[in-house]
Amino acid sequence: MCGIVGAVAKRNIVPVLVNGLLRLEYRGYDSAGLVVVHEGKLERVRSAGRVAELRQKSANTTGQLGIAHTRWATHGIPSERNAHPHMSRNLIAVVHNGIIENYEELRAELSEQGYEFTSDTDTEVIAHLVHSHYAQGNLLLATQTALSQLVGAYAIGVIAADNPQQLIAARKGSPLLLGVGEGENFVGSDMSALLQVTRNVVYLEEGDVVEVNLDSYRIFDEQGTEVQRPVQISELDNDSVELGEYKHYMQKEIHEQPQALANTLESVCNSQSLVPGIFGAEANSIFPKIESILILACGTSNHAGQVARYWLEEIAGIPCTVEIASEYRYRASVPNPNTLVVTISQSGETADTLAALNHAKATGHGYTLAICNVPESAIIRQSKLRLLTRAGPEIGVASTKAFTTQLAALFLLTLVMAKVRGRLDEKREQQFLHELRHLPAAMQKVLALEPQIAEMAKLFADKHHALFLGRGMHFPIAAEGALKLKEISYIHAEAYPAGELKHGPLALVDKDMPVVSVAPNDTLLEKLKSNLQEVRARGGELYVFADADTHIHASEGVHILQMPEHAGFLSPILHTAPLQLLAYYVALQKGTDVDKPRNLAKSVTVE
Ligand code: M6R
Repeated sequence: MCGIVGAVAKRNIVPVLVNGLLRLEYRGYDSAGLVVVHEGKLERVRSAGRVAELRQKSANTTGQLGIAHTRWATHGIPSERNAHPHMSRNLIAVVHNGIIENYEELRAELSEQGYEFTSDTDTEVIAHLVHSHYAQGNLLLATQTALSQLVGAYAIGVIAADNPQQLIAARKGSPLLLGVGEGENFVGSDMSALLQVTRNVVYLEEGDVVEVNLDSYRIFDEQGTEVQRPVQISELDNDSVELGEYKHYMQKEIHEQPQALANTLESVCNSQSLVPGIFGAEANSIFPKIESILILACGTSNHAGQVARYWLEEIAGIPCTVEIASEYRYRASVPNPNTLVVTISQSGETADTLAALNHAKATGHGYTLAICNVPESAIIRQSKLRLLTRAGPEIGVASTKAFTTQLAALFLLTLVMAKVRGRLDEKREQQFLHELRHLPAAMQKVLALEPQIAEMAKLFADKHHALFLGRGMHFPIAAEGALKLKEISYIHAEAYPAGELKHGPLALVDKDMPVVSVAPNDTLLEKLKSNLQEVRARGGELYVFADADTHIHASEGVHILQMPEHAGFLSPILHTAPLQLLAYYVALQKGTDVDKPRNLAKSVTVE
């Protein structure tokens, strides 16, 4: 999704803006632009391509105040004329992340006032609106007045040509933070954009407007009251956003999974028993009251929730439903106040998940728990309880380490719930803790299969479709494997619970349809084997990711990848990694942009 960087300093800030945009590239974008104030004029550079192109085009641009943007198209095609910043009468410039829902109405009004529109975007109305209120030269007031007329979501940066040392920024529904420097200040969509200049950060809250000056800043809440927000020191590691020895962030992040799992499980694995307090102090009083669990999430995070449903019902004996956040938010559902609403999100800013959380709260759900990878994100702030996955920054658009750490966190939730409900005796608790401690090492062994998977991937390069099969708690893993493949290789892939095959999709199976199957040694193994026979009998080519003791052997049309060990309930976490690697190597074969697949964004902050 769109990325924003802004700076006010006593030095040329163009390199800061461009480097910031490079750091935000992972969010996904299709065009980029920047504007600076130079000798009392706005100088704008835009590009319909990559930030690297913008860097070249802006090589001779200088300025000490500026805003920059990567755009992920919503209103209007990706093109230079639709790229941000948008300007009004060469006086006001604006960058925006989000969607202005009433832009058509505002556009009509502003056109009547004589404003000329040069793009198809919703953002341009903000520039003209601010301009229309700027008569007295007060940029803060003009922006606040303009914002009061907007319906929708935004993070914005605004500058004026005749105000060379001030930047106004605001957020509502889209992320934005303030970076505090010495004699210079910055804004950015996330911390990775600002680490180059400062570690001191103020996380702006919903509705905040900030006046950013060289040596100072003032924050106002939605009502216009000046407020103080704490300055925090970011712990984000600059190295963790570097590519290092890897070809792509996705490959790096797949290989970071053993460490990410160890970090996420650290506090639990170092202790002798599980306590509700790991989800926040209030969990001690809330968990005993919980009668059911409702999980809300999108995409990969939703798949994590689907795995957790099997764990929660089987181990903790608690009813669990999992809903796609974008559907739940518009559904008239029947609330149970003793339900724990669990949102799962890597970014913590996904608009649909956030809206689903607020919808749940509005319908009477008071008990909310966020499982999230970003400490200061909106979803964390708006939930009563929380467990942070400690995967570190995930740059690749295709989620990998965030997913497996979400699973680890959800397994902890399962165990704590089971304990609270009297379904986990001391012996079983210790056994599970032992298995969790072993998980990072087990994951390392799975990753060692990379060369075999890279070979297997070559057989997919000329395929157009693929089926993924799994059963039980491994069906969501098959779904995750299919999502990874379609996201980054653009091969059409669908997942089915293997028993469903004969109810329709079997008609698709022929020699050109690779069928990938997750085959753990569990109670459904024999049934799965029969399903695989059904595929072979129709000439389908099988790629089976099988536990060592499943006795499924390679033969003509049957390719086997043998998993090092069987991990019981934790098996879905380990079975994920080979599917991630398969998608990665197929994408390499196809030559796609692995980390920034077409049309997708990392952080989906619009509906
Ligand atoms: O940040 P979130 O976990 O809330 O994001 C949800 C989905 O947008 C995300 O998982 C998406 O499906 C990924 N691109 C999958 O790889």
